[in-house]
Amino acid sequence: MFRLIKYPTYIWYKTLEILVENYTVAEANLKELGDLGCTVLHQVDAHTMKHHPLLNLKFFDRIVFNFPHAGFIFGEHTDYMIELHKKLVRGFLRNARDMLTTNGEIHITHKTAYPFNKWNIEELGNETGLHLVGESAFYRCEYRGYINKRGSGANCNKTFPVGLASTFKFAAVSSV
Ligand SMILES: C[S@@+](CC[C@H](N)C(=O)[O-])C[C@H]1O[C@@H](n2cnc3c(N)ncnc32)[C@H](O)[C@@H]1O
Repeated sequence: MFRLIKYPTYIWYKTLEILVENYTVAEANLKELGDLGCTVLHQVDAHTMKHHPLLNLKFFDRIVFNFPHAGFIFGEHTDYMIELHKKLVRGFLRNARDMLTTNGEIHITHKTAYPFNKWNIEELGNETGLHLVGESAFYRCEYRGYINKRGSGANCNKTFPVGLASTFKFAAVSSV
């Protein structure tokens, strides 16, 4: 899941049915977001989101994707899996870049220890017309109520240890 803020729009890759079936608190969370006036969209692919009919004319100050991950197909340390993860992040950044307001930022929170550091998040930003404007250490305890989830596979509702992680903040090259 990632968030586009103002008023917050929450977009999900999964269908509503899969969310509710697999995540114990999904229904309650979706209701709370609706009550708060947030827009919630389902089945939005990060690779194509800028073309989504409800997003293609909108611009956002912050676009957030916590722990992007392409799934658990092979081991995290394999070149194949690392390339799949990088492809997801590149696709997300390319789309998000075109959805930013003039001074907007894209925030990606990502683990920074091996093998996750091999994704070279900063380089992926540079490749996609973005510039790193900040990196801050991420501590889950600073986000009350947030529980990071594996997000795919049989244990998709389970959390995972965050360990060392950072929030990488990008802006479009033309705006820095
Ligand atoms: C490790 S989970 C993190 C989930 C959540 N952001 C969190 O912090 O708990 C990775 C997420 O990436 C999402 N994802 C994978 N491929 C995607 C894509 N092409 N478009 C959008 N989301 C995708 C998955 O659905 C999964 O929820």
